[in-house]
Amino acid sequence: MNQSDLNHDRQLTDLLANAESYFRYFQAVYGDKIYLEAEIDSISLTRQERKQLGFANLGYEIRHCRRCELYKTRSQVVIGAGNPDSKILLIGEAPGFNEDKQGKPFVGEAGNLLDKILKSIHLRREDIYLTNVLKCRPPENRDPEPHEQKACLNFLMDQLELIQPRFILLLGRVAAQALLKTDQSLVQLRQKIHRIGNARAVVTYHPAALLRFPKYKRDTWEDVQIFQKLLRGDDDLQR
Ligand code: URA
Repeated sequence: MNQSDLNHDRQLTDLLANAESYFRYFQAVYGDKIYLEAEIDSISLTRQERKQLGFANLGYEIRHCRRCELYKTRSQVVIGAGNPDSKILLIGEAPGFNEDKQGKPFVGEAGNLLDKILKSIHLRREDIYLTNVLKCRPPENRDPEPHEQKACLNFLMDQLELIQPRFILLLGRVAAQALLKTDQSLVQLRQKIHRIGNARAVVTYHPAALLRFPKYKRDTWEDVQIFQKLLRGDDDLQR
C-alpha cells in the first residue's frame, strides 16, 4: 500500500467510527427505530425530556468537535458538571491538566479552592452547574486563543439555552470578557451586576489566580457576597 492508499484507508476508518458512534447515540436516545429529522420534531416530549435530549445531543457534538486544533492534544473534552436543573451557573476558563485527564471541571487544586469559596456562600457543587468557556485543554494551560474561544462559544451558548440560569458567576477575566462581550479588565468588571440574557451575572477572580496571588482573596470574598445577595433576592440589588 502506498502513502495515499494509507491516508485514504485512515480517513475511511475514521468516517466509519464516526458513523457508528452517531448511530449508537441515536439508538441510546430514540431506541431501535430510525426517525427522519421531521419526525423527531413531531415526537411529543415533555420539557424535561427535551432538555435531556438537548444535553445528549450537545454532548455528542462536543465530544466529536474538531472546530479548532485543540482536539489534537486533548485527552478528552470537559463538558460540565453539577445540577443541570440549577438556576445557578458558574463559568471558568478552560480545563487544566487534571480536568483533561478526568473529564470533569475544576478537579485540581483550583477546584478545591472553588469548593471553599462555594461553601462560604452555603453552596455545594450539586447546587450549581459548572462549566468552562473552552471544552478542551489548551496545551501547557496557556490562555485560550481568540479563535479557540470563538469556535467553542456556541457550545456555551447552547448550555445557557438549555439550563436557562438566573444567576451566573464568571470566574476570571477570560470568562468575564467572553460572556460580557467586552475587553474591559476584570477590575473594571467586578463589584457590579451584569445582565446576560435573563440572568444576572457577577464577575470575580479565577481560583487559579487566587492560588498565585492570595492577596485577591479578600476581593473575591466581597464579590461572592454580592452574588449571595443576588441569590437571596436582596432588594437593594434588584437593578
Ligand atoms: N480552570 C478552569 O477555568 N476550569 C477548570 O475546569 C479547571 C481549571
